[in-house]
Amino acid sequence: MKQTVKIIIDGKTFELPIITGSEGERAIDISRLRQETGLVTLDPGFVNTASCQSRITFVDGEKGILRYRGIPVEQLAEHSTFVETAYLLINGELPTQEQLNRFSVMLNDSSLVHEDMRAFFENFPRWAHPMGILSSMVNALRAFYPEIPERTEEEEINITVTRLLSKVRTMAAMSYKIFRGHKVIYPRHDLTYAANFLNMMFNSPVKPYVIDEDVVKALNVFWILHADHEQNCSTAAVRLVGSARVNLYAAISAGICALWGPLHGGANQAVVEMLSQIHANGGDVAPFIARAKDKNDPFRLMGFGHRVYKTYDPRGQIMKKVCDKVLGKVTRQDPLLDIAMRLEEVALKDPYFIDHHLYPNIDFYSGILLRAMGIPLNMFTVMFAIGRLPGWISQWKESIDNPNWKIHRPRQIYIGLKQRDYVPIKERG
Ligand code: CMC
Repeated sequence: MKQTVKIIIDGKTFELPIITGSEGERAIDISRLRQETGLVTLDPGFVNTASCQSRITFVDGEKGILRYRGIPVEQLAEHSTFVETAYLLINGELPTQEQLNRFSVMLNDSSLVHEDMRAFFENFPRWAHPMGILSSMVNALRAFYPEIPERTEEEEINITVTRLLSKVRTMAAMSYKIFRGHKVIYPRHDLTYAANFLNMMFNSPVKPYVIDEDVVKALNVFWILHADHEQNCSTAAVRLVGSARVNLYAAISAGICALWGPLHGGANQAVVEMLSQIHANGGDVAPFIARAKDKNDPFRLMGFGHRVYKTYDPRGQIMKKVCDKVLGKVTRQDPLLDIAMRLEEVALKDPYFIDHHLYPNIDFYSGILLRAMGIPLNMFTVMFAIGRLPGWISQWKESIDNPNWKIHRPRQIYIGLKQRDYVPIKERG
């Protein structure tokens, strides 16, 4: 039976349909509200607003569940690779061996970056943040790889998608090498996606990089855990910018900019900065917990809290295990990990964090894992961006394939001044 809700406005009753998702989530469909009642809804930060119906990712923030195309992220982290998970997200199904081979060949074929782009990389100031560089360079890809009119739309999308997945990884490693003033290492056809990235980052003419399969596995898990997270800030940005029908490079570039923020993807860098600060102050976590609770202090405990998860972030728990494994391999223990564990223990017992449902999120441990892998601090959010690419792409694809597609254009409630007259400059007091 079709369910509805009734609302009474100025004594008149209106009926609005209720939409039920495949996991039983219910929403009031207000798409005809303004047309029928003249009213709009107000929901700052979209806390209560579903912006779309999606078949890609399911999150249950109360139970700590995350599934891509129905498959629990725990299973993907254990059995899958990042490339296979990317295929799943973008195409909706796990690939057959043949489909996976073809996809891998396409990724390999797209891995080189136009040599002319090196001039751009080399001319950014040395102190430029890699996220700013990445968003500019991704946007610039359209100019270097223009649309070819002979191709069908589907062919063009497939090529653009593989290009992005492959080249963003190459560009990330390239920007790091150029930033350090070192020789750029080119991608290799004989290496897997993650191993290739590690090799491009760490191989050098004077010290060959030895690929460690446990580190490759850890990087695959890191990227799988970041691959999608339904309508988060950067994905919403990709959908919004994409809704104006810009090219995919421009939409992804917008997503990278949104991810850069410290309240979103930038949190993994912010967590390590915060832990380093605690370490530099002698390692006592108490003053930092006190600051986080102080309403008059804007300081927040980085890596804690989430808009959707009101329990443990399932990704954080997997990340912690991977982190322990990789740290077990490196000879030097990381003092920041000890501080992180102390911070977690104290915060989880503190009534403020309990009452506010603040638990460690994915970024709490991911920074420590990246440190153990040798990834420099300013590249942390870039690592998140590479991982989130399949999610952004699949969400963009779903939104442009929607037959009921609409440009995203929210309403507002104007609270400014009423009409008044222009005053000539000489008469202004
Ligand atoms: N430390 C201290 N207090 C916090 C924190 C925190 N990390 N997070 C939220 N609160 C408090 C906040 O002060 C507010 O308190 P009150 O109701 O008493 O005024 C309450 O909890 C609700 O906070 P909010 O800002 O309204 O919640 P939100 O859902 O808008 O924000 C968040 C979610 C992730 C932006 C926020 O928890 C935060 O700033 N966390 C730290 C940054 C971080 O770790 N971000 C990574 C998120 S996970 C990766 C990703 O998806 O990007």
